[in-house]
Amino acid sequence: MPIAPADLPREARRTVARLTPGLQRVFKDEPVLWPPFLIRLERELPRLLDLLHRLYGWRYDFHWHLEQVLLTAARAWRERPAPWRAWDAEEEAAAAAGRPWFHDNRQVGAVAYVDRFAHDLEGLRERLPYLDRLGVTYLHLMPLLRARAGESDGGYAVSSYREVEPRLGTMSQLAQLATELRWRGVRLCLDFVFNHTADDHDWALAAKAGDRDKQDYYWMFDDRTVPDRLSPGLREIFPDRGGDAFTFVPELGKHVWTTFNTYQWDLNFSNPALFRQMAEEMLFLANRGVSVLRLDAVPFIWKREGTDSENQPEAHGIIQAFNAIGRIAAPGLAFKSEAIVHPDQVTSYVSPQEAQVSYNPLLMVLLWESLATRDTTLMRHSLIKRFGLPDGAGWMTYIRCHDDIGWGFADEDAAECGMNGFDHRRFLNAFYTGRFPGSVARGLPFQENRRTGDMRISGALASLAGLEAARAKRDRAGVELALARIRLLYGIILTIGGVPLIYLGDELAVENDYAFADDPHRRDDNRWAHRPVMDWQRAERDLADPASPAARTTAALRRLIAVRQDQPALAGPAMTILSVRNAHVLAYRRGAVDRPLVVLANVTETPQGVADAGLVSLLGSGPWRELVSDTPVAWDPAAGVTLPPYGLWVLSGG
Ligand code: GLC
Ligand code: GLC
Repeated sequence: MPIAPADLPREARRTVARLTPGLQRVFKDEPVLWPPFLIRLERELPRLLDLLHRLYGWRYDFHWHLEQVLLTAARAWRERPAPWRAWDAEEEAAAAAGRPWFHDNRQVGAVAYVDRFAHDLEGLRERLPYLDRLGVTYLHLMPLLRARAGESDGGYAVSSYREVEPRLGTMSQLAQLATELRWRGVRLCLDFVFNHTADDHDWALAAKAGDRDKQDYYWMFDDRTVPDRLSPGLREIFPDRGGDAFTFVPELGKHVWTTFNTYQWDLNFSNPALFRQMAEEMLFLANRGVSVLRLDAVPFIWKREGTDSENQPEAHGIIQAFNAIGRIAAPGLAFKSEAIVHPDQVTSYVSPQEAQVSYNPLLMVLLWESLATRDTTLMRHSLIKRFGLPDGAGWMTYIRCHDDIGWGFADEDAAECGMNGFDHRRFLNAFYTGRFPGSVARGLPFQENRRTGDMRISGALASLAGLEAARAKRDRAGVELALARIRLLYGIILTIGGVPLIYLGDELAVENDYAFADDPHRRDDNRWAHRPVMDWQRAERDLADPASPAARTTAALRRLIAVRQDQPALAGPAMTILSVRNAHVLAYRRGAVDRPLVVLANVTETPQGVADAGLVSLLGSGPWRELVSDTPVAWDPAAGVTLPPYGLWVLSGG
């Protein structure tokens, strides 16, 4: 029951007037906090009201829920630690000036599991100098909240949003770490796993014990009638688990919606009480010093019968409403969307009013796709169509993450390039599992679906890039090519636009770790192959030998990071693909037309020439400077320039 747009400001004014006494009372001991709260409330409320009306306006108790949401926001702002309020002001000012932090070329992200990287939070603090030396300014710590005992999907089965997993540390340690990081200029990102909780979260336990209100936090069905009706329309996310997206829970005598694993219970956002509760959990984390919440599994948060229950309009409404609440109560908080779906849908979550930043899974798969095909046609075509984002939003670029690689390019883009998407995915799966003749990739098939023939790929960067196979065969030329592929991939994600994310371990060219197969809680999930445990002794030994793949990869990465952090032309998201005539080379322009940088990337193992005169009109007649190697490059009017195998050049006009 949306309100007519013209009536929104009036309705917002009325709401503020009606709720002011109650809200102001929250600040009775700290009255100075009320005016800034009121300013932001008045600014955000028309939009929030509209969103909540659309979601919950049909409820007889709508106004009561609205009041509860705003009280939650007020209390969170009152509790917000003073340094974070100061940082809020900085973030707001930067965004208002069109310079949000994620557009800054000095930003470099790293991702790690606390236990696998450094044992626990204390160990992680001791490793901060390591991250400093890499140039890291953004740290995504993989799920570290209290998780289900036994299998927990790597912590994505959260048992409490308010406690840190005891083996890793405590909430106050986390809060201290967040503040310490921020003083060093590093933003902390944590997952907000809001699509589901573990089956042993307090709410789930209460539900099992018969608490009706808590049962309404989830999707529960007395019998199979509804599940049977819904099932055929739903995507199987983890086909290995068998069955469908519903799990019978004997303690309840009910069938619970479980999109992911059977122990991950989907939350019911059509219930406004759950919405408010999750807003409170979100603000709790923000007030511990989390600068960025990675919104996990966003496509799935709203269900609608007769659809696949992904990417529903209300899913956007929920995130936008959280965004507005964040603006009111923790204005420096940013969202990062994790939507691993059709590229149109990926982008649909990204805007200043929704998730300000997002993974760019399309670029990620196209990097691997171009290496397999030695051709940039699909990559260029897709990036020209889809790299652009609304103002004030940005990408997070990455080569691989903790999850599998699913070939999420658009079928229509492939068709426009004369390819069949289905066949192309089959080829890529064969290539990256090393089954395709000549492939040196050592990926593992993840969740092979025998019904649809579909699968995704697990694997560490080094193993997918051919290092594992080459080293096993003592193939020195193969090692060189693999290292060059790794440099190329890093070179692209560091220069193409957005905050690059390094999955820690990859910077040392760590290969697949097959130990997961011996762990009963991990052996059914080969994503653990690419979530290796950091071996610091080995790292030190390798780094001491400049010829080792680890030392060479780290050195190359550091060099690329130095170039990135030094070049304002690499700030911001604007990027133009250049249509050079050689399809083996990806070319793009960054920075202003009058002082651009041009990046050339050869996706093959042979030298490639680029002779398009357009480069001369961009960069001048030379000599140019290649910034990574810091050497001059001469343009030959007859032959152009020649890139080495897998070469990546960042060219400036000199
Ligand atoms: C996200 C995570 C993935 C997890 C899933 C369920 O997609 O990245 O690792 O399995 O959500 O929480
Ligand atoms: C699917 C989901 C994504 C999740 C992944 C886990 O791709 O869309 O959210 O990360 O499965 O493997």
